[in-house]
Amino acid sequence: MGRRVTMGEGGTPLVESCRIGAKLLGARLAFKLEMVNPTGSYKDRFIAAELEHLLARGVRVCVATSSGNTGASLAAYCARYGLACAIVVNADAPAAKLLQMEAHGARLLRVTGFATSPEVTEAVFADLREFTDGGRAALVVSAFRYCPVGMEGVKAIAREIVAQAPDVAHVFAPVGGGGLFAAVSAEMRRNSPGARVHAVQPNGCPTVLNAVRLSKSVEPVESATRLSGLSVPFDIDASLAVRMLREGGGEAFGVDDTEVFEAQREMLREEGIYCEPAGAAALAGARRAVASGVVKPGERCVCLVTGHGSKDTASVQSHITPAGGPLAPDAVQQALREWIA
Ligand SMILES: Cc1ncc(COP(=O)(O)O)c(C=O)c1O
Repeated sequence: MGRRVTMGEGGTPLVESCRIGAKLLGARLAFKLEMVNPTGSYKDRFIAAELEHLLARGVRVCVATSSGNTGASLAAYCARYGLACAIVVNADAPAAKLLQMEAHGARLLRVTGFATSPEVTEAVFADLREFTDGGRAALVVSAFRYCPVGMEGVKAIAREIVAQAPDVAHVFAPVGGGGLFAAVSAEMRRNSPGARVHAVQPNGCPTVLNAVRLSKSVEPVESATRLSGLSVPFDIDASLAVRMLREGGGEAFGVDDTEVFEAQREMLREEGIYCEPAGAAALAGARRAVASGVVKPGERCVCLVTGHGSKDTASVQSHITPAGGPLAPDAVQQALREWIA
């Protein structure tokens, strides 16, 4: 038996919607709070399972690609278990995710065009495969195509949902590369065959959406989405996701970035859930599913809230009205009177 790798990931709460669900034509809505994992995203489930596997093989060095959350998680777990890691990220990854990686001692490689241009992204992947093929380091990518053992760890999300909400009818999962959706969809079919898992992808990066809509195979796209985590412009696990959609009976919902930012605002203001935009994409998809009649009144819906708001403070900032400057002590009562009026 190798060393157990854990930081307490998984076992996340499923909380009932207090206000948004009631507005969604009576849908019974709940949020699976994956943002409470140790480094703030569901990726901890992946990294814990993958590192346990790598440590058992004697790996001491990892190279990863990340939009931010995989890297933050890998950096933390590598710090804890004494591995070295280097992480390739897109040039405009949110500062807080980069800070997390650097705080834990990861070597960052920010690459222009990575995660937006399919050519750049594929070329970088080819370089990384070449570098890691020599056995110098393990390549860590949160996708079945690269790290199937780690992705097994993500499947626990579905088992937990079934235990927490046995009557679940619809699960909404955000899609970037497609691995998260594929993991949850596959495991939901095994544990609750009647439930449908739906894919929610930004219209600005429609790898899965195009393949489903046009009934063809996955083709690369030039990504225009600003949703960190959901910009994956070529087929990593998109083909697998499309296959799971076809076999599992889920739908693919396209959402505009503006709808996702609006969903993030609603979750902040009406549910008290501090999530990053990618963590609000599922809600934007659920809204579309209700509008299109896919969800019937009274059906139990679960949205995956995949990442914490502290990961992307600029997006949170865009939802607030900045407070004024400091007050003189004798101006407090007057300010409160104006506020309550
Ligand atoms: C917060 C968050 N949600 C969803 C996803 C999408 O996961 P996948 O790339 O497996 O589709 C990511 C991926 O980085 C993410 O960081």
